[in-house]
Amino acid sequence: MRIDMLDPLSRYTALSALTLLAACSSAPPPAAEKSTPKITMNKESWGAAGGRPVDLYTLGNARGMQAKVSTYGAILVSVVAPDRRGQLADVLLGHDTLAGYLGTHPYMGAVVGRYGNRIGKGRFRLNGVEHKLAVNNGANHLHGGINGFDKAVWTAVDEGPQSVALRHVSPDGDEGYPGELDVTVTYTLTDDNDLRIAYVMKATGKDTVANITNHAYFNLTGKGEGEIVDHEIRIDADRFTPVDGGLIPTGELKSVEGTPFDFRKFVRIGERIAAEDDQIRFGKGYDHNFVLNGTPGTLRSTIRVKEPVSGRTLEVLTTEPGVQFYTGNFLDGSVVGKGGKKYLFRNGFCLETQHFPDSPNKKQFPTTTIKAGESRLSTTVFRFAAE
Ligand code: GLA
Repeated sequence: MRIDMLDPLSRYTALSALTLLAACSSAPPPAAEKSTPKITMNKESWGAAGGRPVDLYTLGNARGMQAKVSTYGAILVSVVAPDRRGQLADVLLGHDTLAGYLGTHPYMGAVVGRYGNRIGKGRFRLNGVEHKLAVNNGANHLHGGINGFDKAVWTAVDEGPQSVALRHVSPDGDEGYPGELDVTVTYTLTDDNDLRIAYVMKATGKDTVANITNHAYFNLTGKGEGEIVDHEIRIDADRFTPVDGGLIPTGELKSVEGTPFDFRKFVRIGERIAAEDDQIRFGKGYDHNFVLNGTPGTLRSTIRVKEPVSGRTLEVLTTEPGVQFYTGNFLDGSVVGKGGKKYLFRNGFCLETQHFPDSPNKKQFPTTTIKAGESRLSTTVFRFAAE
C-alpha cells in the first residue's frame, strides 16, 4: 500500500515510523540532511474558550515556512511564505490573539462545518425525514449554523513539528443535524512548501450530511491590506453553480463560457468583478461555487493564483468537486485584525474547496450524505511558491 493512499492519520503514523527507522539506522545521514535546520515542535497555551484551554501550534519546515493552527475552531491562524526575494510574510488575514477569534469575525481561517456554505431555508430531507437546522444567514443556514465547528475547541490527537491532527465530535442533533459526526483534520506543512489539510468525517451513529472546508482569507502581498483585485487567478472549471439572490444555487450547472466566471486562463481578479451581470450583483463580486474539472476524489491541481508584485503564487490541489471563490465582498472594516488592521472590502480572497452548496436539497449534485458507520475523506493542498 502506498503511504499517500492511506487516510491522514495512518499516513502520519506510517511516516513517523519511517522517520524513526531512518533515525535508528547506523548509516551516517547524507550530507544534505546535516545542513537542514532542526524543526522542533512548538505548542503554546493560547488562552481559553468556554472554560476550555486552547493551544496554538506552530508548524515549520526546512525552508523557513511556518503555519500556525489553533485548537479553537481548528483555525489556521497564519501562513508565513516567501516572496520571490525569499522575504517571508504572513499571507492570511486573521487575528494576533485568541480574543480576536472569540469575537465576531467572518470565519477567518476556520474549519467550517458540519456543512460549509449554505443550505436553503436551513432544511433538508434525509431518508424521508425533514431536518431543521439553525438559520443564521437571512432565511438560510450558513457554515454549520450558530455554533459551528469554527467555535468548537478541538482536541489534538497527534502532533509533531510539521503536523498536527485535531479531532472534534459533533453530537447527534448538533445545530439540527442528524447523527454524531466524528471529524479529524490534519494540517501538515511539508518541506516542499505544501500546506496539506486532510479531513476524515465519520458518521458514527446515523446517516448524516457533511461538507467541511477551511475558510482562510489569502492576501499574497503579505501585507494584509489592499484589495486583492490585482492578483491573477486561474480556475480549472468549465462550469459553475449560479445562485439566487440569497446565494442558494438554482441547481443549474452553467457553462462559464462568455461569462465573468471564465477563469480557465489567468485573469486579474478585478478584471470583470464589477461586470453588469446578475450573478456578480447577487454576490457583490465573486461568491460562487465552481465545478472543478477532473475526477472528484482524486487529488488534482485545480487553481493557481499569482500576486505580481511579490511574485508569490498559490496552487490549490483538492479531492473536492467544487470550490467557493469568495472575494471578501462582505469585509467592511468592522473586523480589526492582525497588527490593528481594519479589514476592508476585498482585502482577502477565499478558496473554500467543497461539495456544492445546498447539495442536500439538490439530487443532481454530488451527494454529501455519509451513511452510518462510513467515513468520507477530503484533502486539499495549498502549495506556496514564488516566481
Ligand atoms: C462564505 C460565503 C460568503 C460569506 C462568507 C463569510 O464564503 O459564501 O457569502 O458568508 O463565507 O462572510
